[in-house]
Amino acid sequence: MQVLVTGGAGYIGSHTILELLRAELDVIAVDNLSNSKEVALQRVAQISGRSFACHNIDLRDGAALNMVFEEYDIEAVIHLAGLKVVDESIQQPLDYYDNNLMSTLRLCEVMAYHDVKKLLFSSSAMVYGEPQSVPISEDSPRDATSPYGMTKIIIEDILADLYAADKTWEISLLRYFNPAGADKSGLIGEDPKGVLSSLLPYVSQVAIGNLPRLCVFGNDYPTKDGTGIRDYVHVSDLAEAHLAALYASEPGVEVYNLGTGKGYSVLQVIEAFSNASARPVPYNIAKRRSGDVPASYADTTKAKTKLGWRATRGLAEICEDTWRWQSQNPNGYEVYSVKVNKNIQA
Ligand code: NAD
Ligand code: WQD
Repeated sequence: MQVLVTGGAGYIGSHTILELLRAELDVIAVDNLSNSKEVALQRVAQISGRSFACHNIDLRDGAALNMVFEEYDIEAVIHLAGLKVVDESIQQPLDYYDNNLMSTLRLCEVMAYHDVKKLLFSSSAMVYGEPQSVPISEDSPRDATSPYGMTKIIIEDILADLYAADKTWEISLLRYFNPAGADKSGLIGEDPKGVLSSLLPYVSQVAIGNLPRLCVFGNDYPTKDGTGIRDYVHVSDLAEAHLAALYASEPGVEVYNLGTGKGYSVLQVIEAFSNASARPVPYNIAKRRSGDVPASYADTTKAKTKLGWRATRGLAEICEDTWRWQSQNPNGYEVYSVKVNKNIQA
């Protein structure tokens, strides 16, 4: 099967392509490298020992995207491309609406033109806003608390309307909880540009000494130790879930929560990371971060029963694998890529 992966050079995209290649699927990556570097894809080829195509284009360029569909016999699309930082979306809403919505509309138009109707979409647990109860099931109400979360809700509704108009579409809406960790090789991992926002990369930077300490955003939440609880799912587990969703794809629109079903507090993550790295992780208690919710973790029943998928890697493994990536790559991918279309050679 030939699978197009949009956002393929990104954190989740690179790990997903790796698992597709390991499963002997053929991959075409598309990425504008706005938040990634091509070296990540070169390392994916190195780890897997397999070559694949990469096209450095912006999904909003419909003509360029159409050329990619003309060149390959694409059978399915995993749509990961998008801007994803909550705070940034609040500062720059138009960038988020333009990028995330227009790239999805162009993609769906080109897919329909080429009669490619199998689509996995990267949604997020952020669509639930402040959950009314935990664990969160797929039928929990949606409530965006940021332009970023709203782009995910709007895209989910666009795709539902697309299926209502043409019942041959096979659409899986994958609501990721908190992806974390890195491939065991230590060669690929999370390499966020700009300001760090999510917990694991921040803790990792403190452990390696690039940052002096972690600010814990509030310890007065109604949780076991007062700090925020999240469902950290290993990025390799998440990548494997995409394979399961591809194989389970059928006409319709299916929503899946992709998490572990377990929640860990910030202080528990700090302790786990310190154990994994044998490094101290100094921190101070700061005030709550606006928009944060006390607790969020998944009801994983549907993914288990319908996809036959569940996460098998726990918090300790997430921390060990993150530390291996971080200590082998103290400054991330650091090599700055030249933007070209090419075959990524193993
Ligand atoms: P990432 O930024 O590492 O990867 C996204 C990739 O998309 C980047 O390589 C970027 O260059 C590319 N891209 C962005 N806009 C593009 C465009 N218009 N055309 C072509 N390429 C474009 O982010 P990630 O963490 O790998 O997330 C992947 C997807 O998963 C995103 O849609 C994100 O919203 C979603 N998601 C991420 C998380 C998380 O915490 N990482 C959680 C839930 C959902
Ligand atoms: C986890 C916990 C913080 C950093 C993330 C992304 C967001 C979205 C969903 C795409 C919370 C605490 C964090 C720090 C801290 N991505 N924390 N100090 O809040 O679920 O959102 O996933 O959909 O863009 O940010 O996860 O990693 O930001 O925070 O105390 O320096 O760690 O308060 O309780 P969150 P997170």
